[in-house]
Amino acid sequence: LTSSFMLNNGLSIPCVGYGTFQTPNDETCAAVLEAIKVGYRHIDTAAFYGNEEGVGEAVRKSGVPREQLFITSKVWNSDRGYEKTKAAFAKTMKNLQMEYLDLLLIHWPANRKQFGDAAKGINAETWRAMEELYQEGKIKAIGLSNFLPHHIDELMETAQIKPMVNQIEFHPGWAQTDIVEYCLKNDIVVEAWSPLGRKDALENETLKSIAAKYGKSVAQLCIRWVLQHGVLPLPKSVTPSRILENTKVFDFTIDAADMQAIDALKNIGGQCALPDEVDF
Ligand code: A2P
Repeated sequence: LTSSFMLNNGLSIPCVGYGTFQTPNDETCAAVLEAIKVGYRHIDTAAFYGNEEGVGEAVRKSGVPREQLFITSKVWNSDRGYEKTKAAFAKTMKNLQMEYLDLLLIHWPANRKQFGDAAKGINAETWRAMEELYQEGKIKAIGLSNFLPHHIDELMETAQIKPMVNQIEFHPGWAQTDIVEYCLKNDIVVEAWSPLGRKDALENETLKSIAAKYGKSVAQLCIRWVLQHGVLPLPKSVTPSRILENTKVFDFTIDAADMQAIDALKNIGGQCALPDEVDF
């Protein structure tokens, strides 16, 4: 793949990334091996996905030197807080069987609705543990997932290190432009989970006709649209032909009128969960 983004600590992060949400552990090794074979160098997993072992196995079997791969995992909600985050990281590394991790994210912010006034302190403590792991060199970059601007502002009141990444749901019909603007202004790379809107976009007539114009699939159009918003897409597929298809997004440009037409789409793929509302 031909593109990469630069994190605010100078680390390069390959693009497009390969998502593994909902890929069962016993299918993960084969899928990730396929992705690495066709050129992906950035694999996104999470403790919650239950497939870190499969990712680690694929990395070892791929024959690609570890330092040429960029591996992300995430701290799950039940592991928030200083001690638990440290333990969760140890478990992640045991699952992955790796010496270091490229990027660790807080999967979801602790929110006020669920935790009241304690939310801020919980996020601060999770972050403090991650800062230490970063400073010890065990993780090359640290960041957030599903954080809204007000969660980041709050975190920055106590943070020593600015997050390098915020991974959010981002796809046609759910362009969270306020979060993207905030992050880009603050030099935080935005990553898109569910860039295809969990498949709903693929049936959309507007997207179909725009994609046809460029001789591309709707999936490729969605991924390209994400890129042109300055966001790093993490498409997920377990199907070899689609894994390859989702990388062919650097040989066309969506023109301004079509970008606007896609931006104007509403209610595609809905949104999975609102960071201020979730109680899982
Ligand atoms: P599969 O994994 O069976 O190939 P999202 O990343 O938005 O959550 O979407 C993931 C879903 O989209 C998966 O169900 C995946 O199916 C499907 N998908 C991924 N890439 C493509 C593609 N190029 N064309 C059609 N469907 C795709």
